[in-house]
Amino acid sequence: MARLGVNIDHIATVRQARGGKEPDPVAAAPLVEMAGADGLVVHLREDRRHIQDRDLTLLREIVHTKLNLEMAATVEVKPHLVTLVPERREELTTEGGLDVDSQRQRLKDVTLLLHQSGIAVSLFIDPVLGQIKAARRVEADCIELHTGRYANALGLKEQDIEFEALAQAARAAYKLELAVSGGHGLTYHNVRRLRGISEIVEYNIGHSIIARAIFIGLERAVREMKELLR
Ligand code: PXP
Repeated sequence: MARLGVNIDHIATVRQARGGKEPDPVAAAPLVEMAGADGLVVHLREDRRHIQDRDLTLLREIVHTKLNLEMAATVEVKPHLVTLVPERREELTTEGGLDVDSQRQRLKDVTLLLHQSGIAVSLFIDPVLGQIKAARRVEADCIELHTGRYANALGLKEQDIEFEALAQAARAAYKLELAVSGGHGLTYHNVRRLRGISEIVEYNIGHSIIARAIFIGLERAVREMKELLR
């Protein structure tokens, strides 16, 4: 059964819409864990448009499973895992994967720094062999395969191509002893097919779970996704 990391950024987005205190993403953490998730994911954006530093500090205290922090630069709070993602202020969400190959030295230095603080490092990359090899060379512990192209594929033929790219990338990463997770754009429907790729041992899913939670509640939404990954 693949592990499930639940991204709770959208809860903070709703809070920020009124600039108040509700809903508090920190309050979501125990619910998400009780519903069977294996970890929580938050993206601390440079412009702090949703998750705030205070959220991160409190989450680090109360998350008992695993806290995966996505970010473009370093912060003081020490999560269990840092996922390095590209970040451009104007984009709505993370668009392409990180270009590891063109900035190997810089990423190697960042990875080393994080390792020295006892933090594992994951790189969010497109399913491309060159990027996987580069991730190995910068000594990352894991990669998160960008599933956005698969998720947005129009029609079965295009989805087949994107699925195959993910399957091959996952296999290649596994052979290089990188732990493999996947995320972005995954839903209760399109995640089903990915279960066939046994090398992907974890999924990080946000939008679809929070969208469903509005109607059926957070715990049930998490539990249903977790059940699907069985
Ligand atoms: N993984 C990464 C690296 C992301 O940047 C995001 C979006 O913040 C996700 C997973 C979750 O994507 P979604 O909200 O589409 O499930």
